[in-house]
Amino acid sequence: MRCVRKVTEDLYWIGGNDKRLSLFENIHPIPDGVSYNSYVLLDEKAVLFDTADWAVGQQFMENLHAILDGRSLDYIVVNHFEPDHAATLGLVLQEFPAAKVVCTKKGQAFAQQFGYDFADRWIEAKEGSELSFGKHVVTFVNAPMVHWPEVMVTYDKTNGVLFSADAFGSFRSLDGALFADEVNFERDWLPEARRYYTNIVGKYGPQTANLLKKASKLDIKYICPLHGPVWRKDIDWFIDKHVKWATYTPEEKGVLIAYGSMYGHTENAAQILAAKLHEKGMHNIQMYDVSKTHVSYLISEAFRFSNIALFSVTYNMNLYPPMQNFVEDMGRLNLQNRTVSVVYNGTWAPAAGKCMDGLLCGMKNMNVLENEVQIKSSVGKETEEQLDALADEIIASMK
Ligand code: FEO
Repeated sequence: MRCVRKVTEDLYWIGGNDKRLSLFENIHPIPDGVSYNSYVLLDEKAVLFDTADWAVGQQFMENLHAILDGRSLDYIVVNHFEPDHAATLGLVLQEFPAAKVVCTKKGQAFAQQFGYDFADRWIEAKEGSELSFGKHVVTFVNAPMVHWPEVMVTYDKTNGVLFSADAFGSFRSLDGALFADEVNFERDWLPEARRYYTNIVGKYGPQTANLLKKASKLDIKYICPLHGPVWRKDIDWFIDKHVKWATYTPEEKGVLIAYGSMYGHTENAAQILAAKLHEKGMHNIQMYDVSKTHVSYLISEAFRFSNIALFSVTYNMNLYPPMQNFVEDMGRLNLQNRTVSVVYNGTWAPAAGKCMDGLLCGMKNMNVLENEVQIKSSVGKETEEQLDALADEIIASMK
């Protein structure tokens, strides 16, 4: 049975929710699922904006046929060819052989690589070019590397709808809601929107900032992303979040404490620092065990906070592997402009501090605080005093 929602006049959401998938991109846990959004515009021409993942293929096709209600499809606009959106494109092409496909030149090349052949019915979407479907006229805006190089976004000049591809997306399945104002977004969705952006698109901040700059010139009334809810209210609030993420600007003054501890002594140091920070008036602290927290959550929090405190044991004369993965992932995702504290432990030949320093050196604009603390097996009086000095330095760095 069809499961669709009306977005605005002539426009329908026909996507699907995947609550069974454990790992998005086979890497990132999605305990609350994910939606694959697809939209149909019913104008003089019938237009499909993106398709969906195979996981929701049956629902998506049922929705498509139900909304078309016997009409044929005239255009398929493909903003992004990653298979979580384009996997069912082949089926749509087969069922609607007269539908023209609108995408960028690189999109057409990627489509061929994925085995789709629509060269004889392809319309190239060039930056700034327009296409009329009757009442609605759309224009195309290139958005390379948000999140793949072929990506574009499509803006409907008639009703102010922006089909934003992966931009402005979020993890979580919609579960009946369509609009961000139908849920408590800040409480229930923002952490997953942040985790989605920072881990999926986080590396491409300059490219995202470029898209945001282009988008700021458009009169946007609706944002229709490929994942998560549609935006029609408080759009500027959500855009502002993306401006911060794209420019690697912390959202909050606060401290992410991430620790890798084998027998509890390094964790003890992390707890002592957290207690001292609270005592000294800094209450915006989140603490995570890197062995028990998927790195995508750590990355999301690292983008959120101004300060990051890293606590690691030495392991095989190196950094503790889960900590190494986290710090390296910060580098891979281009995180910058943070104040970082380093605390390390070693019973003999402690190497974790140098390893963390080395990795942080390779990132842009990371302010590593002077009070690096070495724990010799367990926290003693001297270490406790050093942690106190570190807490003071962290608080001073926020002023
Ligand atoms: Fe949701 Fe880059 O695909």
